Amino acid sequence: MSNIPYIVGNWKMNGARSMLSEARAIDRAAARFPKVQVALAPPATLISAMREAVQDIGVGGQDCHAEVSGAFTGDISAAMLVDAGADFTIVGHSERRAMHGESDAVVRSKAEAAQAAGLSVILCVGETEAQRDTGKAEEVVAKQLKGSLPRGEAAAAQLAVAYEPVWAIGTGRVPSVKDVRTVHKSIRAQLVAAYGEAGSDVRILYGGSVNADNAAKLMAVDEVGGALVGGASLTADGFTAIIGAAGLADEA
Ligand code: 13P
Repeated sequence: MSNIPYIVGNWKMNGARSMLSEARAIDRAAARFPKVQVALAPPATLISAMREAVQDIGVGGQDCHAEVSGAFTGDISAAMLVDAGADFTIVGHSERRAMHGESDAVVRSKAEAAQAAGLSVILCVGETEAQRDTGKAEEVVAKQLKGSLPRGEAAAAQLAVAYEPVWAIGTGRVPSVKDVRTVHKSIRAQLVAAYGEAGSDVRILYGGSVNADNAAKLMAVDEVGGALVGGASLTADGFTAIIGAAGLADEA
């Protein structure tokens, strides 16, 4: 299972019911690539409708609260995501870390709550441009992982890590193959240190300006087990090309 590339679309705060036709088209395309695991994380308002609209792809949340229920206006718990039909959730996206002040400890509590509710988790990490420019990318990512990886014996089995350099998100800029390989290798070492052998099976996704043109190159990098895609996942055309590139990389 873990050798299958995992291609996930994060719709962020985009999408209305009218876009379910894109999800259906993505679902049909995914069915043509059984050796690629495909999922979409639409806004929470669309999770249950999308779950009903698709068959072959996963549907997940973009965030969850660490508590099961309570006086947390505007928040959504992991149990609620499950109830809506989600099978996974993203946590720790840099947009949440930056705009909602989420610390590593908060991200970890969300990841653990999600797994306790039965969701698998995509945990995001990544350095800012200033951190990259001062040679701190690996150190920053290591610190984020140390503070936010979910704990517990079974945690690794329901986990993917997404390396998303903040400066590559939505900018059209991507790190070099060498830099992606370096960071992914260091993430792998940390996963093995945290979880033992189970850490070698956790997929490490790359995210940040992945598109039809660069997907094949990025998917071929050592320790890249898939992609977390923003803008290019909003249309079936754009996303299908990435799914196809992952399918071909897998066959190569
Ligand atoms: P883009 O693919 O639009 O750069 O977004 C990446 C991202 O943040 C996915 O979570």
